[in-house]
Amino acid sequence: MSNNHDPDRPPIPESPAKPADAGKRVPPRGETPHLPLADRRRPYKELRQENIRLQEEAQRRTIALATAAHRLKTPLAIISGYIELLLSQKAGTLVERQLQILEEAQENCLRLHRFIQDFLTYSALETGSVTIKAELGDLNTCLAEVYELWLPRFQKKGVALYLTAGSKLELFKFDPFKIEEVVSNLLDNSLNFTPEGGSVWLSAERHFWDRRRGHDFRGPIEQRKLTSGEPNSVKVTVADTGPGIEPEYHQEIFHDFFRVPGASESSEGTGLGLAIARRLVQAHGGKIWVESEPGSGSRVSFLLLLEPPSRKNEG
Ligand SMILES: Nc1ncnc2c1ncn2[C@@H]1O[C@H](COP(=O)(O)OP(=O)(O)O)[C@@H](O)[C@H]1O
Ligand SMILES: [Mg+2]
Repeated sequence: MSNNHDPDRPPIPESPAKPADAGKRVPPRGETPHLPLADRRRPYKELRQENIRLQEEAQRRTIALATAAHRLKTPLAIISGYIELLLSQKAGTLVERQLQILEEAQENCLRLHRFIQDFLTYSALETGSVTIKAELGDLNTCLAEVYELWLPRFQKKGVALYLTAGSKLELFKFDPFKIEEVVSNLLDNSLNFTPEGGSVWLSAERHFWDRRRGHDFRGPIEQRKLTSGEPNSVKVTVADTGPGIEPEYHQEIFHDFFRVPGASESSEGTGLGLAIARRLVQAHGGKIWVESEPGSGSRVSFLLLLEPPSRKNEG
């Protein structure tokens, strides 16, 4: 590295050397100048300390966020309980308008609950307190459960939801609760961003994942030329007829707290759903990505290996 990048240090003279430098070796053009060891170490040490300081600060912020979110849970549960009691009319008969208002309040409690849950899951993932409890299971059954859970919300908005779990999948190891959370986050987005009258498809199929080039979470592996092979993974996809996502945001939507500028204003969100999904899929040894063009809907897919990565000998 040239010390010309350091504003506190004078530029290193090129040839001819000044008389003061006589006897010292002047590095030829392009070669790293020979700085004293202490000088070369100083910026690195400072950077490292700064990096540690920033990491500690981020960790403190994450824990504070989780604590605040956690404290909101109890009063929210109490409010929800009272609303439920009133709605049951055990505390007195209500007129139609009062019931409508309470239902609206209940819906908002649910939204708040989802926000809190996002923050709690995010901070648990950040602080490393989430463990993947993989067990042998049927992914199609897991997807059917998530589908049943989400169907009423889709029907309420007037968006069609289809479960197209095509091929029969063999049993393999995954954490059903974490995968349910991933799929829920994808369905939540499709529901939020797809206008009334649109459609959403949830599907799962066996897939050959060519992993010889190692981990690459930056882009769709499908764009690579694949050699044919036995399916070694399952691909789960949530596709919708929503507005789509500009290609320039295809990486960023998986970053923490990121929401596409402008496009997300019509809906409320934390910008954490896909960041959580990415972490959970990666914790399974899988990968997640989006394929989309504005105006042509979105397809978010993730891959789960049929065999845990630790058992395989990959290059
Ligand atoms: N199916 C989709 N259609 C259009 N935009 C989407 C879709 N899924 C995600 N996005 C974009 O990615 C952003 C990040 O998504 P996410 O992490 O789930 O956060 P949130 O849903 O809280 O905004 C969204 O705000 C939106 O801009
Ligand atoms: Mg979301």
